Parts: sequence; C-alpha cells; structure tokens
Amino acid sequence: MDKIRVLLVDDEADFRRPIAKRLARRDFEVHEAGSGEDALDYLASLSVDVVVLDVKMPGLNGIDTMARIKEQFEGIEVILLTGHSSTEDGVEGIKRGAFDYLTKPIALEHLAGKITQAADKLHREIEKQREANFRAKMEQQMIATERLASLGTLSTGIAHEIDNPLAIIKEASGYLRLVLGKDEMAGIPRRQELFNAVDKIESAVDRTRRITHQLLGFVRKQEQSFMETDLKALVDETVEFLGKQARQNDIEISVQAGAQGGIWSNPYEIRQVLVNLLTNAIHATPPGGCITVRTEDLDEGISLSVADTGSGIPKENLEKVFEPFYTTKAPGEGTGLGLYVSRGIIGRLGGKIRIDSRLGYGTKVLIELPRCQVFEDEIKDNENICYEILNKIKGEPES
Ligand SMILES: Nc1ncnc2c1ncn2[C@@H]1O[C@H](COP(=O)(O)OP(=O)(O)O)[C@@H](O)[C@H]1O
Ligand SMILES: [Mg+2]
Repeated sequence: MDKIRVLLVDDEADFRRPIAKRLARRDFEVHEAGSGEDALDYLASLSVDVVVLDVKMPGLNGIDTMARIKEQFEGIEVILLTGHSSTEDGVEGIKRGAFDYLTKPIALEHLAGKITQAADKLHREIEKQREANFRAKMEQQMIATERLASLGTLSTGIAHEIDNPLAIIKEASGYLRLVLGKDEMAGIPRRQELFNAVDKIESAVDRTRRITHQLLGFVRKQEQSFMETDLKALVDETVEFLGKQARQNDIEISVQAGAQGGIWSNPYEIRQVLVNLLTNAIHATPPGGCITVRTEDLDEGISLSVADTGSGIPKENLEKVFEPFYTTKAPGEGTGLGLYVSRGIIGRLGGKIRIDSRLGYGTKVLIELPRCQVFEDEIKDNENICYEILNKIKGEPES
C-alpha cells in the first residue's frame, strides 16, 4: 500500500521537527507547515490524507484552519493537537468535523495510531464512493441495454405487422402496371405520369421491405438450422454475389482463405453478416480501392475479417455504429440495421465482433466464431430471441 501522506502543522518548530522525523521513520510521508495559512497554501498543490493541526497558533488557529480545509478540499481527515488544559477545544473540533484530538504532550505511538485510523476511514470512504459510482454506471448501462432490447422486440413486431400489407401494396401496384401497359390503355390521358406514380410506389415498397427483412432476418425461425459450414465456400459465394456491384464501382475484392477446417454453425446467418459487412465496405470504399476478406484458424474457432481501404469511422462513432437505425447514409441507401443485426447474430452464434478503423485509411471488421455452436438448443426453446441475444451481449461486454 502507498505511504500515508501527513501534513504536520505547528508554529513551534522545536516541537514539530522531531515529531515529523520520527513519523517519517515509521514510514509515513510527512510534510510540515509552520502556520494555518502555510498549511492551506501547501494543500492547494499537495495531496495529503491526514492533516495534524495544532489548535493554538498565531494567525489562523487550528479550528479555523480546519474549517477552511473542510470547505476547500475533499478527502482529508484532520487530527487536532490541543494544550493539556484545553480539552474543550478538542471537543469543539470534533463537533466541527475533526477525526479526533490529542492533548499535548503527545505520545508518538498514540499519534501514529490515530493517523493510521484516520487514513483507514478515508480509504473506506473512497472505496464506498467508488462502489457507488460503479453501481450508478452499471445501472445506466443496464437501462441502455434494456432500451435496446425493448426497441428490438418492438421493431421486429412492427416489421411483422407491416410485411403483409407491403406485399399487398406491391402486388396491387404490379397489377396497375400490368393494366396500364395493355394496348387498350394506350390512349388514356397522363398515362406516363401514372407509370411514374407506380414506379414511386414500388421503389418505396422496396425500401420499406429492405428494412423489414433486415429486422425479420434477425428472428426468423427457419434459419435456425445448424450444419457443417464451409466458410470458404460461403465467402466465395457471397463475394460472387456482390462482385458485380464492386466491379461497377471499380473496387477489387480479394479473398484470403486461410482457414482449413469447417465449423458447425448457421450458414444462413453467417451469410447475412457477410453480406452486411461487404455491402458496408463497398459503400465506404472509393473507386480504385480494395476489400480483403480473410479467414483464419484459431485455437478454438475461426476468424473472419472484412477489411476495406475506405473512409474509415471516427473513433467517437465506433460504438454507435452497432446501435439500431444508426446510419450515415442517404435514406434510400442505408437502414442503420446491418451492424446491429450482425452483432446480434454473431453474439447468438457464440462469437464476437469488433471494429478497428482509421479515419481516412479504412476499416476492418473482425469476427471470431467458435468451431462448434453451443447455444442451439437454448435458441430452439427460446421464443424471444431478441432478448436472448441482448442478454448475451450484456453478459459479454465488448472491450
Ligand atoms: N466499412 C465501413 N467503413 C466506414 N463506415 C462504416 C463501415 N461499416 C459501417 N460503417 C458506418 O456504420 C453505419 C452503420 O452501418 P450499418 O449498421 O451496416 O447500417 P447502414 O449500412 O444501413 O448505414 C454506416 O452508416 C456507416 O456510417
Ligand atoms: Mg450496412
């Protein structure tokens, strides 16, 4: 433990010096001041645990000095030294907040004991405060997590509800388009405008569906099938699937498949994550840039990373990107759900996801997955997957 820091304040140097020396020999860190005013100056720049204050001093006396110390500083205990015939001073001092008082002449043993007790009390209080702060922080975190959980449940509910009417709108607008396209309609007024209106309806439906499908993909039950998953094949297939979009933007995607073994996992969900990450990388990367997808064997699992030479993410946004509906993209382009959903999926598969990014240089999303999925039964039994995923996240906070 650190040395206890003591400030010894007494106007009589002949009394003060020898005590300071003897305390120092007992392993206290001792500082000295010759008056109450000096003591206050000292404390402004020095941190001290215990102040030992003579009560009778010219200028500021001990009791008044203590009052100022209590006013101006936190976390300091005061022990008063009173003359042998003035115990009332000591009693008054305790009323005003002194830890204790000793009457002169003092036994060094006694003083050292009191200083240690005062420092112990101080440390207990600091510990208590630290605990209270920690609890307050945890509570805040739990409130935030709960909010996310209920938001997740709520939004998947809404997504379910709007998916059906959306299908009807889409079908009806398709029918409109079909009818408008018929020869018998060739002469109707404002035909082209009607076509444009149908286009608008359809693209709005598509945009809304992208959102609902992202959300529903998060909880869809039929996707909970686990099988031997060949990560390399999955990566190749996804890269192939998104290759056209990348080529159109003059972005090269390279695959470095280092992992040999397969994993027992849910390929549909891993693919959904891969699509999300690759889409983000393509969006962030300027023409001429490149994206690298890499897999590697780990001791207990497998790692999968998607790195790009794109815009990067500002440090202060690194946690925000996992929040639902957080997006920096134009309304038609982003839903702000990709990373939220991906983190949920990876958490549920027993893995971890994190992002390293440098603004202006690029971003790397790193995933670690266990070789074998252990939560399968738990998930089958669990109706409310959103909660389950969020509880997992809660149990394994991201570093
Ligand atoms: N590879 C990346 N490079 C730069 N920014 C990224 C990258 N991936 C994600 N982001 C940031 O995180 C935000 C959230 O991503 P995501 O959850 O996938 O939603 P969306 O892509 O729909 O915006 C993005 O809008 C973007 O600002
Ligand atoms: Mg995205």
